[in-house]
Amino acid sequence: MLRTSLLAAAALLLSTQLQAKTCELNIDSTDQMTFGAKELTVAADCTEVKLTLHHVGKLAKNVMGHNWVLTKTADYQPVASEGMKAGADNDYLTPGDARIIAHTALIGGGETTSVTFPVSKLEKGGDYTFFCSFPGHWAVMHGKLVFGG
Ligand code: CO
Repeated sequence: MLRTSLLAAAALLLSTQLQAKTCELNIDSTDQMTFGAKELTVAADCTEVKLTLHHVGKLAKNVMGHNWVLTKTADYQPVASEGMKAGADNDYLTPGDARIIAHTALIGGGETTSVTFPVSKLEKGGDYTFFCSFPGHWAVMHGKLVFGG
């Protein structure tokens, strides 16, 4: 009996560990209006993603601001162009836009910011795009996020 409950306890502990796995992603952004990666991969066993955005440049947020915004690829262009109209006060994102899966704050040179979101918002094999929503940036500052790779 004792052995059985120990095994059960061990199995429970193991499954708890399996249930919570925060995977960390890091990406740089620059004064040259670029991200440091064109593709990011979230492993299939992650339950949560912590994405950290570094702005390694020197230019101010109102000149060369960067954020990291994640949507389905089909939503990326409309979310970006509508976000532009939302203005600087909203970090160029429409408040409450349900198409936004996750986003960081908008930052300037020398700053770092991060966002944590559950992987349950993603589908394995789904088509996701990350981008910067600062006006004029999204057309060049974008990449793919792959889940389950
Ligand atoms: Co930008």
